[in-house]
Amino acid sequence: MPIHVITAPDKKEPTQNVLQMVIDDMALPLDFEWLITDNLSNKSLNHLIKPAGLTLLAVWQNETLHLTILQLNAQGKLIKTALDWHKLQRRIVTAGRKSELILQASKLDADKRVLDATAGFGQESLILASTGANVMMLECHPVMAMLLRIEQMRMDNEKNWQGLMSRLSIRYGDFLQMPFADKRFDVVYLDPMFPDSSFDAKVGKGMQLLHEWTQPPSLSEEFALLDKALSLADSSGKVIVKRPLSAPNLASAEPSQTFANDAIRFDIYKPLL
Ligand SMILES: C[S@@+](CC[C@H](N)C(=O)[O-])C[C@H]1O[C@@H](n2cnc3c(N)ncnc32)[C@H](O)[C@@H]1O
Repeated sequence: MPIHVITAPDKKEPTQNVLQMVIDDMALPLDFEWLITDNLSNKSLNHLIKPAGLTLLAVWQNETLHLTILQLNAQGKLIKTALDWHKLQRRIVTAGRKSELILQASKLDADKRVLDATAGFGQESLILASTGANVMMLECHPVMAMLLRIEQMRMDNEKNWQGLMSRLSIRYGDFLQMPFADKRFDVVYLDPMFPDSSFDAKVGKGMQLLHEWTQPPSLSEEFALLDKALSLADSSGKVIVKRPLSAPNLASAEPSQTFANDAIRFDIYKPLL
């Protein structure tokens, strides 16, 4: 898939250096084509977006790189999607078992080991790490994995985010293919793409983008996801699966407990002793 990166003439070199460092470090199968312009207005960006492949806008803010995915919708309107963990600050600072269903479900304490096997935009990883837990974030889409790492680097420049950032480690790869040692984690969290029938068109543009990029797992993949997650959870640990409220259970497996609100639920599975 060709990836076009739009940036200003004086930002090509620093952007290229950062992207290459991330590609090498995470072993990402990515290659870029550069579109250099002085005019980063929406009108100019609108004309630069290529019909095939993916277009990223690279800008620098306070000496740090910020990437935005650019798309045109059916009406030709420019849609910008970016990770912006700043926006989660209030939610993270106030996160607790009362405010966050996922924390009620996980009952995490500091220093616990969590694997977020389907990291996406990383929002739930941040909430899980707000407890003091260490969260390994795994993402199988190379561009998404790159966006996560670059966002982590950007936030790591801010003093009050450094503690949280130091508890996140971001990896690229398919959970089903990754060689992990058994029983390594206290919590394994799975949030695979929702089944098409329960996809709510009201979800944000970020999630709509993920629905274009990745498919929900097949039934055999659902079995494999749950099996592998259970094998990686410590005997006193658990697997947490996020589902839309009305979606069938992952791999048709009955959870031992469920935490639900009016839109979603977190199903808990305990590893066999
Ligand atoms: C629904 S999103 C997760 C959203 C995430 N919980 C958040 O807070 O932003 C699912 C993500 O998991 C990734 N994914 C799906 N299957 C995967 C697998 N087998 N291994 C690693 N990542 C996977 C997809 O690329 C997608 O980015």
